[in-house]
Amino acid sequence: MTTIYSGIRSSLLCIALLLSAAAASAAEPVLELSFSKQHQQLTRSDLLKHPALRTITVPADSAYQRAMQYRALPLLAILRDLRGVDTVQFKTEHGFVANIPAQLLSGPAEPWLAIEAAHAPWPALKAGGRSAGPFYLVWLAPEKSAISPEQWPYQIAAISEVAALQTRYPQILPDPSLASDSAQYRGMQAYITNCAVCHQVNGGGDAQVGPDLNRPFNPTEYFQPEFLRKFIRNPAAVRTWPQLRMPGFPEQVLSDAQLDDVLAYLRHMAQRK
Ligand code: HEC
Repeated sequence: MTTIYSGIRSSLLCIALLLSAAAASAAEPVLELSFSKQHQQLTRSDLLKHPALRTITVPADSAYQRAMQYRALPLLAILRDLRGVDTVQFKTEHGFVANIPAQLLSGPAEPWLAIEAAHAPWPALKAGGRSAGPFYLVWLAPEKSAISPEQWPYQIAAISEVAALQTRYPQILPDPSLASDSAQYRGMQAYITNCAVCHQVNGGGDAQVGPDLNRPFNPTEYFQPEFLRKFIRNPAAVRTWPQLRMPGFPEQVLSDAQLDDVLAYLRHMAQRK
């Protein structure tokens, strides 16, 4: 009788252990890497065991708007070979897609991948919401390469090598007769860095968090110019509701000259649908 009992008890214990192991591995976040020379699926515990792991202090964290400490890896310890790579794409779990030129990642701005450990969760970004984890791209010296707040993707699910956005979606290009230093062309570059992480133009782009900015109509066609500027600087200054998701672009992020360029690009694209 006792042996049957202990037999049942130990098999129940086994099942319980198996189930909890399965639950733990199902909950383990995975970072997917797809590069022509590197395909990998890295689990959070793989990353936390990496020999280059450090504790870093990010003086001006973009997502949290204050200094933050993280367990983190230099991004280039994970992306081993960026030679020949034009753009690195960070796909997030919330639909936002940042396409970051590879040269910025190899430059002096010092990109790190912050990793949220299960036993040391980061604060929620908004009351009652999720944190920026499990994987978040942070920069130790963003001012050295004028890194925009839109180049700090959080809740990252996958990192891959892609061609430049305008190569993959030529419908976002200005008229080919315009010089590459024209306001419209510079405006497209500022649009790609700051706006294409959420918007499309002419149905071209990786994200659809916000509306297409040219089809069916372009905001330069239906916004009074002064209100469009105001809206981009601070959307809530024009109209506001609790679900408003577009961030404002103050002058420190988008200078007046850059905002002029983005508006020149949008006005120009209204003629190219
Ligand atoms: C993080 C995502 C995000 C980024 C970055 C972003 N937007 Fe938006 N945008 C939105 C969303 C979402 C809306 C819809 C309103 C809302 O929910 O905030 C919107 C709305 C707009 C509108 C109003 C359209 C309308 O008809 O109501 C304009 C204009 C606009 N965005 C322009 C821009 C420009 C220009 C940039 C870059 C300088 C930009 N957005 C960057 C998400 C974003």
